[in-house]
Parts: sequence; C-alpha cells; structure tokens
Amino acid sequence: MSLTGVKIVAVGRYAPPRVVTNEDFQKWGLDTSDEWISSRTGMKRRHWVDENSATSDLAVEAGKRALAKAGLTANDIDCYVVASATPDYSFPATACITASRLGAKDKAAFDIEIACSGFIYGLTVVSGLIRSGVYNRVMLIGAETLSKLIDIKERSTAVLFGDGAGAVILEASEENSFLSSELGSDGSRPELLRVHASGSRKRVDAQALLDGETFIRMDGREIFKFAVTKMIDATGVALRKANLTKADLDYLIPHQANRRIIDAAAKYLDMPPEKVVVNIEEYGNTSSASIPMALEEAVEDGRIKPGNVIVFVGFGGGLSWGAVTWRWA
Ligand code: ACO
Repeated sequence: MSLTGVKIVAVGRYAPPRVVTNEDFQKWGLDTSDEWISSRTGMKRRHWVDENSATSDLAVEAGKRALAKAGLTANDIDCYVVASATPDYSFPATACITASRLGAKDKAAFDIEIACSGFIYGLTVVSGLIRSGVYNRVMLIGAETLSKLIDIKERSTAVLFGDGAGAVILEASEENSFLSSELGSDGSRPELLRVHASGSRKRVDAQALLDGETFIRMDGREIFKFAVTKMIDATGVALRKANLTKADLDYLIPHQANRRIIDAAAKYLDMPPEKVVVNIEEYGNTSSASIPMALEEAVEDGRIKPGNVIVFVGFGGGLSWGAVTWRWA
C-alpha cells in the first residue's frame, strides 16, 4: 500500500553551552539594560557558539538527538534538508556536511535559505516530497549561528539573536499530519532586513568590512509591523485551507523574534498564553531554528499530545512568511 500521509516521528534540539545574558551587553560597553531588552523583546539570555564552531556543528548535534529518539541511524534517512541563513559556506551546502558527519552515505541533501521562514518553507517542501512518494523519510533541520553576523556595537540588533538547531524526522504514514500551508514573500525592499555584503550583489571586501556591511541591518519598526500582520494573516489562511477555525487550534508555535510580536498575534487569534509555545527568554531569535527548538520543548514536556492541532508560523528576511497547520500524530 502506498502511504500518502506524513508525520513527525522525532524531534531533537541543541544549543551551544555558552550563555550570553542581557547584563553581558552592558558589561561589554553597549548602551542598553536588562530592563530595556526584557521589556521590549522578552529575551533574557541567548546561546552563542565559540569562534571555531559553525552551523553544521549545531545541526549535527540536533540531528544526533533526533536519530537517537527515533531509534534510527543516519542511513535510515533518505534525504537531509537544512534550513539556514547562516550556512557554513555559500557552498557546499550545510546539509551535505551535516549528513556525512551524522554517518549518512550518498544520501540526498540540500539547503533552504529563506531566513527565519526556513523551517516553515522546509516543512512544506519536505511534506510534499514524502506525500508524493519521492522519499520515505527525511530529516529537516533548522540551524543557525546568527551571532556570527551581528555588529556587537549596534544595540538594536546585537541583543536579538542567538544560535541553535532543531531537527525533525518526518516519514511516510497512513495518518497525515500535514493539513495545509500558506507561504508568501515580498522581495521589493530587501534593505529592510539583510546582510548587504554577503553574496554577489555586494562583494565582501576590505571596504565592506570597514563599513560594517557584513553585519545584519534591519529596520526594526517596519519589521515589527510586518511581522504581526503576516503572522495573523498567514495563520488565518492556513487554518481556512485546512477547513479549521482558530477555535480548533490547540497550540501556536511561532517564530521567536520578539515576545511583543508573539503576544500581539496571539491576542488577535484569541490564543491564551498556555496555548502559545514561547522560549524566547532562553534563546533569543534563532531564526529558522526557533520553531523546531520550541516544538522539541513542548513535545518533551508533554504539552503536545497526539491529535493536537498546531499552527507553526514564521516570518523573516525576504521579506518572507508562512504558516503550516499540523495535526500531531
Ligand atoms: N537597548 C536600549 N535602547 C535601545 C536598544 C537596546 N538594545 N535598541 C534600540 N534602542 C533604542 C533605539 O535607539 C531608540 O532610541 P531613540 O528613541 O533615542 O532613537 C529606542 O530604543 C526605541 O527604538 P525602536 O526601534 O522604536 O524600539 P522598538 O520598541 O521598536 O524595539 C526592536 C526594537 C526590538 C528591534 C523591535 O522593533 C523588533 O523586535 N522588531 C522586529 C525585529 C524582528 O523581528 N526581526 C526579525 C529578524 S528575522 C530574520 O530573518 C533574521
């Protein structure tokens, strides 16, 4: 019998051990405070890699944990997908490095780059690959080392980002967890959120380094407004596509960019705090890793149970956004 459903069979999470607190930024001479960062963002701590670690190091750790929980080995996975805005290199793909280091031999592997929306886009693509019968089992990892892209002297971005990875193993199933997806993008104003000197548009040269163009630059207020609107809109459309309403929703697992963005979206969706999974206090914004890391916590502590309807929703550079409706199996 051919299986046309897909489900998540295991989730793994990893954050590097080094913790950076809000107070640390003040100690390093930044004109900021724990009070400002906590009240404006909900963040208290974030985890940063050391200078010698890269995104694949985090992806491998999260992947190992997911494999152990599933009782699988690396060669039981048909395809590896890494969603990241901070790959080890522009090429080769971080997924190739990750798969090999996990012990996989000759397996398909590719990266998805759509900034903080990476996990949502990845979940849509991977679910399609499995449901159409191309692959039986896929590992999707959101992994980031955004600490490598921040300008430590720029207070409005330096405090926001953290490093980490979350891995999910998806497989073909008689049950079907994937209920709907709503994805979108608007690339008309890349300057709202980008690393200017990081690709073919603007070469990474000595001048770019001097001008600080190799760091994340962002119009925080514009992104804030965009984020709230798109989280609400995308969640509504994804639920409609699944023939569900917000009353059917058991958990919202949003991208963890700002507590106030999450609270504003949750309020509009009538989601009480206990139904919204938030771990921003501990990890900050880990871009495409934030949703699978939050999912892992909620699965491990028993909040999420079989049959629960979840909306995963995110937004980020692109600009890009998306929501996936998922029934936990
Ligand atoms: N400490 C103290 N003061 C600060 C800090 C800080 N860390 N950062 C900014 N400020 C100051 C500003 O300089 C400004 O001062 P001024 O009034 O003297 O000019 C004041 O605080 C208010 O600044 P705003 O930008 O209006 O502050 P806001 O309340 O909007 O919060 C923030 C800023 C946290 C960046 C918010 O706008 C936000 O979270 N935006 C969305 C960010 C986001 O989601 N990014 C997604 C990235 S995803 C990806 O794809 C990488």
